[in-house]
Amino acid sequence: MTDEVTRSGDAIETYSLEDRHFPPPDDFKERSLVAGTFLYDEADRDFEGFWARQAADLLDWREDWHTICEWDRPFAKWFVGGKLNVSENCLDRHVANGDGDKVAYHWEGEPGDTRTITYADLLDEVCRFANVLKDLGVERGDRVNIYLPMIPELPVAMLACARLGAAHSVVFGGFSADSLADRINDAEAKVLVTADGGHRRGAAVGLKAAADVAVADTPSIEHVVVVRRTGQDVHMVEGRDLWWHDLVPAASSECPAEPMDAEQLLYLLYTSGTTARPKGIMHTSGGYLTQVAFTHRYVFDLHPETDVYWCAADIGWVTGHSYIVYGPLANGATSVMYEGTPDHPGKDRFWDIIERYRVTILYTAPTAIRTFMKWGTQEPERHDLSSLRLLGSVGEPINPEAWMWYHEHIGGGRCPIVDTWWQTETGAIMISPLPGATTTKPGSATFPLPGIAAEVVDDAGKPVSSGGGYLTLTRPWPAMLRGIYGDPERYTETYWSRFEGRYFAGDGCRVDDEGYYWLLGRVDDVMNVSGHRVSTIEVESALVDHTKVAEAAVVGAKDETTGQGIVAFVTLKAGNEAGDELGQELRRHVSTKIGPTARPKTVIFTDDLPKTRSGKIMRRLLRDVAEGRDLGDTTTLADPAVVEEIRRRATAAPTED
Ligand code: WT7
Repeated sequence: MTDEVTRSGDAIETYSLEDRHFPPPDDFKERSLVAGTFLYDEADRDFEGFWARQAADLLDWREDWHTICEWDRPFAKWFVGGKLNVSENCLDRHVANGDGDKVAYHWEGEPGDTRTITYADLLDEVCRFANVLKDLGVERGDRVNIYLPMIPELPVAMLACARLGAAHSVVFGGFSADSLADRINDAEAKVLVTADGGHRRGAAVGLKAAADVAVADTPSIEHVVVVRRTGQDVHMVEGRDLWWHDLVPAASSECPAEPMDAEQLLYLLYTSGTTARPKGIMHTSGGYLTQVAFTHRYVFDLHPETDVYWCAADIGWVTGHSYIVYGPLANGATSVMYEGTPDHPGKDRFWDIIERYRVTILYTAPTAIRTFMKWGTQEPERHDLSSLRLLGSVGEPINPEAWMWYHEHIGGGRCPIVDTWWQTETGAIMISPLPGATTTKPGSATFPLPGIAAEVVDDAGKPVSSGGGYLTLTRPWPAMLRGIYGDPERYTETYWSRFEGRYFAGDGCRVDDEGYYWLLGRVDDVMNVSGHRVSTIEVESALVDHTKVAEAAVVGAKDETTGQGIVAFVTLKAGNEAGDELGQELRRHVSTKIGPTARPKTVIFTDDLPKTRSGKIMRRLLRDVAEGRDLGDTTTLADPAVVEEIRRRATAAPTED
């Protein structure tokens, strides 16, 4: 620990906070797929050859490719000339191998209803729905929009599209009618698949009603297929709207998979932009499936015969696309899929699910982990979590204390943690430990995976061998986005123009003296205090390090003397009292932990933080609050009431003299 800036002059200054090391436990290592460096060595010798071997080993191809990678910067094609069918790789081949009775999903609805879906069941349903889509006029190259809760029909609809070579565009069920309409119009989808509603925190939340509003403004939609989930009343438009349960059981379960080009568009997924037009991120078939299958197998050390894997994300985000649907199914894994929230009916729902299904691998987000910290250790303690052997984290930097809490209270001190850095745009995990091979440090995503090339650079684009800067990717990778739908220039401009010849998607990063990568969050969130560029995550982690703090978000607010002053929004663990004294104590704590420059000027206690629907803290809104401005766009906010409450408290908060 040090109380000084380690390297002044860095693009982003960093503080050395964490020096705990966790080598892979011996018994984990013994059983793991990768205990040494052989994959890294192979990929270092020939990264294209390495990916080609993965593509050949992990997938079934109908026709071989002639070129591994065609790189016309910034446009990549992988496995050019190769043909495969994604749904065949996820379903038919497992059934053909005798695994038809194997469970693909242990599905659990929020009200407690369950379904057990085998690979044979899934194949049957996918074929039927593919035939339904065909009857509705969907052809190779078309787009289908999907707006469903976390029910089995969601992966079924996605795989049916893949079977036909139609691209799906899944819109998260929490999005409004307007967002849905924008995305449908951008994709010019022919069919929309939705449900009457879904269950969330004990209530039936309508989807069809929002879909109706959206479809009033989407001329391309010819049909709406509706799944009955909640049983709530819906309005069905004659000729346009059709019930899933009328169509699917009546459709034929014969639908041979046709070979698709490796570069066939598999899906569009819109990144949660704030004000600008949504960006339809394009992912294609062969390269994408290769990298998601590879990362799902090796990052999660998957033993498909024995593991019960649970990615607790929503399929509406890329995490669910890659690590609930395509990766696990390509690998023939058994997964848990859960419809609802972690606090219904009690705050131990996750731990109850893990105990009942004997989950061995859990993949969740730091925002969830910090919420569990806030709720207290008595919740997981009520359950037997001894089946767990590996834990994963994704979505945001994980604070070292949240990492330690996850390790101790969920992992029982025995499970390695894989902190996985990636993005909607990268399609698959890029920077992460391999759990049997990598010594981890709490808060670090460790190293780029085999076959991936990353570099941290300074403002001028010069590589930084140790210290803070901007994370860039220097070589194409198989699951990389192929562009922004309908806008190749915006693609080049957004990702390939800041640093010559490099992909840059906006994250700050520090490399330490041992070459570990520490993600620092979005560079838009970096603060400037008396000329020091300080990343929000390091101050937040210092706050979360205090025993009473569950979660913290810091922002830089205009300050006449220092340029920006640090304003901290802090959520306490259950049972602790907010007050001026604790505020002072926290400011001192940050100061001793990482240095006086990083000491917050103001500490505001709050019960909740404003988050996007995918759980990321919206610092932009907190900056508005801290600077007393009117709120900017709040449409992507999960719960708008949270900001009003924070604003009320902010006006009452004391500041440093
Ligand atoms: C952004 C991408 C990747 C699937 C879910 C989010 C942040 C993601 C980590 C991590 C630090 C992370 C980055 C990234 N992020 N994982 N392990 N450590 N930051 O996908 O919505 O496209 O967001 O999430 O800022 O750029 P997304």
